[in-house]
Amino acid sequence: MTRIYTLVNQKGGVGKTTTAINLAAFLAKMGQRVLVVDLDPQANATACLGVDKRAMQGSTYDALLNSEIPAVSVLYNDRLQLSLLPSSPALAGAEVELVDETEREFRLRNALKTLPETYDYILIDCPPSLGLLTVNGLVAARDGVIVPVQCEYLALEGLGQLTQTIQRVRSSLFPHLRVRGVVLTMFDPRTNLSNDVVQEVNNHFPGQVFKNVVPRSIRLAEAPSYGLPISAYAPSSVGAQAYEAIAKELLKGDGVKTT
Ligand SMILES: Nc1ncnc2c1ncn2[C@@H]1O[C@H](COP(=O)(O)OP(=O)(O)OP(=O)(O)O)[C@@H](O)[C@H]1O
Ligand SMILES: [Mg+2]
Repeated sequence: MTRIYTLVNQKGGVGKTTTAINLAAFLAKMGQRVLVVDLDPQANATACLGVDKRAMQGSTYDALLNSEIPAVSVLYNDRLQLSLLPSSPALAGAEVELVDETEREFRLRNALKTLPETYDYILIDCPPSLGLLTVNGLVAARDGVIVPVQCEYLALEGLGQLTQTIQRVRSSLFPHLRVRGVVLTMFDPRTNLSNDVVQEVNNHFPGQVFKNVVPRSIRLAEAPSYGLPISAYAPSSVGAQAYEAIAKELLKGDGVKTT
């Protein structure tokens, strides 16, 4: 059984990509078969996983246009035991190109049904917007959305808009869309502000916030420049410990037993 989660928050720089790739890397390390789908034209997840662009023979763009994912499009990283459907610059044009197409909001969901391999987890990394790409991500999020929220001033600002979009998708496209959880990121234990945000977000999303919080960590910010997730770059850092704990929380909540 494949679990499909989409990382979403239209606010930029809150830790969507960092959470997607590091969660994916730890799930893979724990023996899960994992696919990361890079649904962002910025292609940060693709870059963070150190993809050799010459190896790319297809991308999320092709998946959306053709509602199909041929085997050659999926890149497998041996070291990380992790698969990636990469993004490409062409994805920036997809929203416009799909506007008059039928079932335009269902393109990614339908494409994922054609994957040649079976995965335990598929994590979809969205761009910082609520446009058609993100709507495709929401419609494909069979098991829910994961919302990273940065522990900063006005953290909750914009979440109302996100909640409205989720409601709209529920009422018109995908009634079973749910919030799987909120991940608090860039927590700084030295500031009252960070602690206040944790409290505030827990009040706003009771029972839906992952207990483990991701601290602000230089190692987490450095890892992408080496094309590595934190599990490979600095496995004993506090950031790695946090994402490992969140991966375990996710597995436990999903009722998945690991050895
Ligand atoms: N816990 C953390 N500690 C320190 N730096 C972090 C942490 N999480 C993310 N960052 C850094 O913050 C920046 C934004 O993170 P990230 O790219 O994951 O956010 P995003 O929500 O995907 O952004 P975008 O909206 O542009 O896609 C990146 O430079 C990343 O390395
Ligand atoms: Mg991102």
